Amino acid sequence: MATPTLLDYLHQLHRQGISHIPITDHARQILRELYTRGSARRPHSSSPSHSKTPPTAIVSSGNTAQEKIASLAATAAGWAPFKKLQSLRDTLVFSAGNPSADLMIIGEAPGFHDEQKQQPFAGPAGEKLDQILKAMGLSRAQTYLSNISKFRPATKNQTTNNRPPSPEEMATSLPFLKEEISIVKPRVIIALGASAAHCLLNKTQKINELRNSWHQFQGIPLRISYHPSYLLRPDEELSEKRKVWEDMLAAMEKLKLPISEKQRNYFL
Ligand code: URA
Repeated sequence: MATPTLLDYLHQLHRQGISHIPITDHARQILRELYTRGSARRPHSSSPSHSKTPPTAIVSSGNTAQEKIASLAATAAGWAPFKKLQSLRDTLVFSAGNPSADLMIIGEAPGFHDEQKQQPFAGPAGEKLDQILKAMGLSRAQTYLSNISKFRPATKNQTTNNRPPSPEEMATSLPFLKEEISIVKPRVIIALGASAAHCLLNKTQKINELRNSWHQFQGIPLRISYHPSYLLRPDEELSEKRKVWEDMLAAMEKLKLPISEKQRNYFL
């Protein structure tokens, strides 16, 4: 991934509606020198700040992981490319949990309950996820939970109904998720459900073909599993629960978490 430059950062501020920033005399002198050196090489093209392509990198600010995530969330809240889509709702649901966690879990998009509480995985699927984490010996506070989309996808006459994010919505959100991963630096990522899997892997196969092996995202081991909402269906078979559990066992092994005999045999 290309490293974001100072120019990327300034374009980002510009998109947030910030047209002036205070700088020191020393910084002004450096910028002047860079401008003078660069002007000989600069082609006569239109400014990238007027480019129609959404940016591929977002820059965070702050010292700690928590501050950096908070700065990203603040940027996402006013991010013009999201508003331009006109297909996402207005309430930001950014992430939850520990921004220095070893395990990062990525879902698809906030739904009705998540939007109400401004927390990812706040509804029934989240309760199922909590049960899974508990069975792994983990809590929400020990993991970092995020979604591909930072806003609930809108539908016509929407009440409690949800829809998965579109490819365009996911592509607009992905730079935020990439920066989150760079900040959190998890040792393992688990992507839940087809939308998250397809977006991260740029593939379209079924979950059944993508789970059961290790992938990589930004150099980090990535495991694909079914979405917890899949396990909420009343007729769900034990064998499907076991598949999800096997994905979690693989993640636990990778994280070198202790696994008891009882845990190994769940749903067998
Ligand atoms: N809630 C979330 O936050 N993400 C999902 O993928 C589903 C429900």
